[in-house]
Amino acid sequence: MNQDDYQPTRADKFSFGLWTVGHPGFDPFGDPVRPWLDPVETVHRLSDLGAYGVTFHDDDLLPPGSDGSAGDRAKALERFRRALDETGVVVPMATTNLFRHPVFREGAFTANDPAVRRHAIRKTLDNVDVAAEVGAKVYVLWGGREGCESDTKDVRAALDRYKEAIDLLCEYVRRQGYDLRFALEPKPNEPRGDIFLPTIGHGLAFIDRLEHPEMVGLNPEVGHETMAGLNFHHGVAQALWAGKLYHIDLNAQRGPRYDQDLRFGSEDQKNAFFLVDLLERGGYEGPRHFDARAYRTEDSEGVWEFARGCMRTYLILERRAAAFRADPEVAEAMAAAGVPDLATPTLRPGETIGELRADNAFDPEASARRGRGYERLDQLVIDYLLGVR
Ligand code: GCO
Ligand code: MN
Ligand code: MN
Repeated sequence: MNQDDYQPTRADKFSFGLWTVGHPGFDPFGDPVRPWLDPVETVHRLSDLGAYGVTFHDDDLLPPGSDGSAGDRAKALERFRRALDETGVVVPMATTNLFRHPVFREGAFTANDPAVRRHAIRKTLDNVDVAAEVGAKVYVLWGGREGCESDTKDVRAALDRYKEAIDLLCEYVRRQGYDLRFALEPKPNEPRGDIFLPTIGHGLAFIDRLEHPEMVGLNPEVGHETMAGLNFHHGVAQALWAGKLYHIDLNAQRGPRYDQDLRFGSEDQKNAFFLVDLLERGGYEGPRHFDARAYRTEDSEGVWEFARGCMRTYLILERRAAAFRADPEVAEAMAAAGVPDLATPTLRPGETIGELRADNAFDPEASARRGRGYERLDQLVIDYLLGVR
């Protein structure tokens, strides 16, 4: 296969956060290693690389040293919009920074102090207006500071306040007539000891209790479910099954440790293979959004290598998965393992529970002796992943 087959185009719907390629490489132990990246330059570079979208937190647009005044925000937004117009890059999603400022040290929507909660909601409403103005269709809510270290925090009251904030945001969007849906981003911990809504499953259960569940879905992230020791591909499949995969944060993570936000596909390629296979075949139409950052070892050019790599690996996995699905030997091994049979309802058409109970044609002992053929099937996956087929 030719190198150029892995060149992204706008049709691939790749997007990046300003804070991802723009990350200057600080960590809890070290200072920034790269200069501030102008959002205007980011839009042009992403466009040249073949991305179709860019996303941002309210504060990402501001130049360093800005006091965040309305004047500064308007000026920054105007420059940014000009770059969007010049390149045709779109803004599929926007979000709020409710974690950096010390005022959010004890939470934002779930802070004990009502004045902090009110401030967090105002900050979000301001950027919801901006999101609607630039045409975003999804608004992400990552509650990085919603959580605690000490379990003296009242978790049930916190969930009441979380629900209150999201109900209010939905009400506002409805009243304004914006074409915008919310996507909650689960994460088990970091920066808080324990974060509320830690996994996809917690998020799905919470959405059911909201006033407007039809306006709220999920933005799962590879690294976050992996930090919780969970299978990301399974979580995404359940979100899709529930009609709640509104957006996705693609990156990589090596096991349950701190949030690494690594280049997509750089770790756990097997899960990434099944993830891409699922997204491409599962009816997901949203952006393929990278929420990752270049290694701290890199300079500014390394950042663009990183961005190229995220998209290239996605496309490689997409082709590998398509070839896997098209291989007659794979189809035969799938059939031998009974994989397609799972799509058949358990009861026969029109069958009653009484008829099911009266069915004595089945021999459980014979069935119990039969191997299920997953070793052969899974080795075919590995052959495709390692490029020998
Ligand atoms: C993380 C988070 C953040 C959020 C982003 C959107 O790495 O812990 O994923 O990057 O996605 O801030 O609010
Ligand atoms: Mn992350
Ligand atoms: Mn994320």
